[in-house]
Amino acid sequence: MSDYILAIDQGTTGSTVLLLDKDLNLVSRGYREFRQIYPKPGWVEHDPGDIWNSVTGAIADALKEWGMENPPIKAIGITNQRETSIIWDRKSGRPMHNAIVWQCRRTADICQKLKDAGHEDLFRQKTGLVLDPYFSGTKYKWILDQVTGLRESAMAGKIAAGTVDSYLVYRLTGSQSHVTDVSNASRTLLMDIHKGDWDPELCSILDVPQSILPKIVGSAEVYGYTKGVPGLADGIPVSGMAGDQQAALFGQACFTPGEAKCTYGTGAFMLMNTGDKPAIGSGGLLGTIAWNLDGTMQYASEGSAFIAGAAVQWLRDSLGFIESAPQVEALAASVPDSEGVIVVPAFVGLGAPHWRPEARGIMTGLTRGTTRAHIARATLEGIALQNVDILKLMEKESGRDIKALKVDGGACANNLLMQMQADFLGCTIVRPKLVETTALGAAFLAGLGAGLFSGVDDIRASWQEDRVFEPKMKDAEREEILARWREAVSKA
Ligand code: G3P
Repeated sequence: MSDYILAIDQGTTGSTVLLLDKDLNLVSRGYREFRQIYPKPGWVEHDPGDIWNSVTGAIADALKEWGMENPPIKAIGITNQRETSIIWDRKSGRPMHNAIVWQCRRTADICQKLKDAGHEDLFRQKTGLVLDPYFSGTKYKWILDQVTGLRESAMAGKIAAGTVDSYLVYRLTGSQSHVTDVSNASRTLLMDIHKGDWDPELCSILDVPQSILPKIVGSAEVYGYTKGVPGLADGIPVSGMAGDQQAALFGQACFTPGEAKCTYGTGAFMLMNTGDKPAIGSGGLLGTIAWNLDGTMQYASEGSAFIAGAAVQWLRDSLGFIESAPQVEALAASVPDSEGVIVVPAFVGLGAPHWRPEARGIMTGLTRGTTRAHIARATLEGIALQNVDILKLMEKESGRDIKALKVDGGACANNLLMQMQADFLGCTIVRPKLVETTALGAAFLAGLGAGLFSGVDDIRASWQEDRVFEPKMKDAEREEILARWREAVSKA
């Protein structure tokens, strides 16, 4: 009987679980959505209990679809929505507050104060990040400041903090392990990415006691063993972990410096492998840790646009233009162009390269003739246009041309969007056969950590191309759209 790997992809709006055999063939799949909590405009929370239940529910669904008793699972891998921050009671596991989600803007003031105090450059040099509410450090500070008695409990060693990877390992191992992988740790504003360790100076500036933080571990090693997880035997190694965008870079086999991918999930996240040196840029892009295998750190440059697939959900749920997300392609394709409409989907502020948490979405160019189809098309264009300045800056800062960009994530199934992306970027877009590369990356890391694979060549060999999109748009047309886009962004 083959060995199997279970990959958990805990995303912003739902949890996916894939069961794969040792040759990385998909055996079965489970998926559960969970509740989004919006306490105030711009604030986003998750109940950690909902996150956990969505994971165990998706595991149950995948096992049911598989239909085998006592499944011989040899490794579990985790990949996750990054930056989302949780603080819980070390003993009971009880969360001290809802998880503050990466999209949440509530710590914009804290970030502004840190900037006013002149800390921006220190954080950029040490962490590769910018002072934006996106990252975990200010979220931990906010919870510690707001929950009565929490700082005292922290000092008494009673509480634990972590990103979603950390929380899931804690739950999967029956409270035994409090760890986080380097890629997730690099998104906290608390880690020196040159050293790969928590930085006492940054922890002190953010007023986050280092004692509540998890131990930083590599991306493929055994962190602990399952204990008391519904549907799973005790003793299965949890042996691979990475933030979802880094896992996708891994799953896309972008192992060589200069190789890049863009994942279209809730947001659109473009990452380029930059090799064994941190890419500390000018502040428009992020320098981040890609993974650490056998003690060797790999870094990436990242440009994050906070809204991508979420804009299609907005067309579906808020505007009622479509009944299901895939219908957007036909609606947008029913008109030859957007007739001058521009949609900047800055619903939770603007991420890279602008970093303007106060920005909000904007629609321009409306006429009496504007229809739902034009707005749908302009929304798709907006998703793709966000990536143009990111890619240009990435090329400039890395000194490398991105000739081909690999794509993955739900929205990359949209052929029209992918053609727009090729046209606006002026580069080739390459879509793989398995677009769930995030979970694939986690599965592969878990297999490596449990000793099921010999090295990364195995994943390179398993990567298969589905379709290539070549740019067709004339330069003059592209420049005209970009000029209108940049004008709208400046007003967002
Ligand atoms: O940094 C946030 C990112 O990790 C969220 O990814 O796929 O849940 O939108 P996703």
